[in-house]
Amino acid sequence: MAKFLFFLATICMVHCFSIPSTNASGRAVFCYYDSRSYLRETQAKMLPSDMDPALSFCTHLVYGYAGIDATTNKMISLNENLDLSKGHGNFRVVTQLKKKFPNLKVLLSVGGGADLEDSFKYNTLLESPESRASFIISASVLLKNNEFDGLDLAWQFPTIKPKKIRGKLGSFWHGVKKIFGSTPVDEHAEEHRSQFSNFVLELKNALRHDNMILTASVLPNVNSSIYFDTHGIMNHVDFVILHGYDYMTPKRNPKEADFTSPLSELMKRNPESNIKFLINYWLNNGFPAHKLILAIPSFGRAWKLNSDSAISGVPPTPADGPAPEGPYTKHEGLLSYPEICTKLNNPANQKGMHSYLRKVLDPSKRYGTYAFRNPDENEAGGIWISYEDPESAASKVEHLKNKGLAGLAIVDLSLDDFRGLCTGNKFPILVAAKYGL
Ligand SMILES: *[C@@H]1O[C@H](CO)[C@@H](O)[C@H](O)[C@H]1NC(C)=O
Ligand SMILES: *[C@@H]1O[C@H](CO)[C@@H](O)[C@H](O)[C@H]1NC(C)=O
Repeated sequence: MAKFLFFLATICMVHCFSIPSTNASGRAVFCYYDSRSYLRETQAKMLPSDMDPALSFCTHLVYGYAGIDATTNKMISLNENLDLSKGHGNFRVVTQLKKKFPNLKVLLSVGGGADLEDSFKYNTLLESPESRASFIISASVLLKNNEFDGLDLAWQFPTIKPKKIRGKLGSFWHGVKKIFGSTPVDEHAEEHRSQFSNFVLELKNALRHDNMILTASVLPNVNSSIYFDTHGIMNHVDFVILHGYDYMTPKRNPKEADFTSPLSELMKRNPESNIKFLINYWLNNGFPAHKLILAIPSFGRAWKLNSDSAISGVPPTPADGPAPEGPYTKHEGLLSYPEICTKLNNPANQKGMHSYLRKVLDPSKRYGTYAFRNPDENEAGGIWISYEDPESAASKVEHLKNKGLAGLAIVDLSLDDFRGLCTGNKFPILVAAKYGL
């Protein structure tokens, strides 16, 4: 008996303590770099060299974004002056960061919502073996010539239509409901789904020769169950990256401000609009946890409040479209983390009547952080922001660890506080997420 127990203990010493999910250094950290940040001005302009302090925290750097030429079905640069050597040559500048960070893998991402012309071309390309081959050949060449280590398919599938909720807001939504449906317009969704699986297989076969990584990103508001056949792709991708944010945005949902990236299901909302639902969909459909990555945003979504909005700020609250652009990113309805933190506690903001934004934390760690300021008597200055901060990012990391996922992604480095304007520490969201792993 004693011998048997000893035998069990020995087995346990060998196996029980080597479960990889407890090895923090074994998890992946995908850092997205949106190359368009190079074109922003002043504090928001990010050069590849500004990434240096982040890169020792990243296992993978993902350059966004390449696109598709609708006529030839080739993968192309969306901004040749930015990406190619006849201009700033950032494709190469970024892959050359591997000299300084030898363990870093650098991927190129295609799509990502950045390819704005002809939104149907992503579906059309899937439909014939010839167009898929054209993409695959051109992608291999572009990746190899620029020394990338792989490709991220951030495929621009049609997104679900914004769904309106009823409930305590009652009649307020009646008119809106008629305008929006809840089903995608793609009548060939089933074909596109199986063609995408073929595409992934063909692509992996081509990239395998060069030892290249292949990942697929599930973009915000793309319905996984419509476009991703978990069994069809699981053996051919290295990772699937779940972009669990932008469930609510001022552009899609101008009349209603709400949590944009909740971990758990919100009362009286769409039960599918949260991260737990997304992760569970993939796991329940047999996709291996060790290939799943959760993408965490580094930015906030901001709505304008008006006199119909709840004075308490408690979401969901009626709103009046996107809040004005931030001083640096200059994109209405979107604020980078440093643009938010300086609104919260910058003494320079105290001049006006409506100085501070009130920050509302989430001790339950289920929904996320928000901040708001009610409008004044002239209906001016009202704003409501749902955003990620280091604490909420850490809660998401805790969850992905409990689920045994492969790691996290930060979307994106240029919207994190890369200059250290909030507290003096650079990349606070990335660093908090990484330390939580
Ligand atoms: C953790 O994982 C890394 C990479 O997979 C490996 O090199 C390292 O030896 C592991 N550490 C432990 C303590 O198992
Ligand atoms: C996603 O698609 C499934 C059908 O495949 C449907 O039941 C579900 O309601 C859709 N989700 C959303 C949020 O539209």
